[in-house]
Amino acid sequence: MRKRRAAGPAQPIRAGLLGIGTVGRGTWEVLARNADEIQRRAGRAIRITRIADTAIERARAIAGGKAGVTADAFAVTRARDIDIVIELIGGTGIARKLVLDAIRHRKHVVTANKALLAKHGNEIFAAAQQQGVMVAFEAAVGGGIPIIKALREGLSANRIEWIAGIINGTSNFILSEMRDKGLQFGAVLKEAQRKGYAEADPAFDIEGVDAAHKLTILAALAFGIPMQLDKAYTEGIAALTTQDIRYAEELGYRIKLLGITRRARQGIELRVHPTLVPAKRLIANVEGVMNAVLVKGDAVGPTLYYGAGAGSQPTASAVVADLIDVTRLITADPEHRVPHLAFQPDQLSDEPILPIGDVETSYYLRMRVRDQPGVLADITRILADSSISIDAMVQKEPGEGERRVDIVVLTHLAVEKNVDAALRRIESLATVVGRVTRIRLEELL
Ligand code: HSE
Repeated sequence: MRKRRAAGPAQPIRAGLLGIGTVGRGTWEVLARNADEIQRRAGRAIRITRIADTAIERARAIAGGKAGVTADAFAVTRARDIDIVIELIGGTGIARKLVLDAIRHRKHVVTANKALLAKHGNEIFAAAQQQGVMVAFEAAVGGGIPIIKALREGLSANRIEWIAGIINGTSNFILSEMRDKGLQFGAVLKEAQRKGYAEADPAFDIEGVDAAHKLTILAALAFGIPMQLDKAYTEGIAALTTQDIRYAEELGYRIKLLGITRRARQGIELRVHPTLVPAKRLIANVEGVMNAVLVKGDAVGPTLYYGAGAGSQPTASAVVADLIDVTRLITADPEHRVPHLAFQPDQLSDEPILPIGDVETSYYLRMRVRDQPGVLADITRILADSSISIDAMVQKEPGEGERRVDIVVLTHLAVEKNVDAALRRIESLATVVGRVTRIRLEELL
């Protein structure tokens, strides 16, 4: 048996925490509670020795004298006795300056900041590359779900074909409640805010912006492309009605806000929108604030990652895992670490992001029409003219004394711009009342 090298215990890793809010506090607690186990895994103790927060008294009360507390975050990013900076402030203003400052001072960075990476990731990773430091961001997508690790490492043998994720818990909670209780959107949003699920600005959740931030990061890792948030198509859930949720249900589908990125023939799809998913798929049954990410690799096939997408300790689980990862690799030659975005930095692809008009998917179309001869014939002719093939069609029973009926059409794969053109023509028919509701549909096979 080979003898282990006799060496003294390595010095603890010293982390500086920027922001001790919900996730910061969870990180403090997990590091303290699991200190022994973490040391056995990392090979060294990991300690938060400095904390920066503007709520200084609150921070002091949590730290209990075990870490220095300051309101000056730059004093932490520049401190000589800090190895890793944990950025949990959020947003893209001061957080960007602090992360870049930490990198400039050759600190490794652990962050949960999805907006920051989606918007400024290219700049941040280039700076980190230049300084030979790591920027770890497991907590930025899917809270405690180790989806970044899976994409960067576990699936690295695969050519990734597509990813479809429920990556915003607030909107998933709203859709689950609308379906379960038959409540309209506005009422459930208020409940989500009361429960504290929504982002500070709930528009980020319900308009799909938070999901677009996370999807931009996943797409970069899956396809080896730069962050391109500005090219993501984003549509939220505010316009969804319980009626569409019910009709979808009757046809065997659930409506989920999905972030989808797919390698298509002409480029890469990057889109967030409400989506009909077959009710029998596992991901269709992810309810409430839970998150799930489905990744299809060419070798492994579909794989599903499920768990808590937000919350203090679930997100801290990802932050601390990153701290352990960075601690293990801190002495490794930067060339031999896993690249930030999974692909070697000089191997990024310039494959274009497809505009939404060029995306090919299936559709749920609901239209209200006058119940008279020839209406269906007009609609099907317009769809055929635009090369849109019908998969199923249902005419709903009119209500008592009602002379207008709802028609629901499910299409086969069609190109979005053809669907747009067809809908404009359908909406101009005298027999069609109001706008056509269009929701994209994915079989996820
Ligand atoms: N507001 C986010 C969500 C929190 O609802 O999923 C985690 O990013």
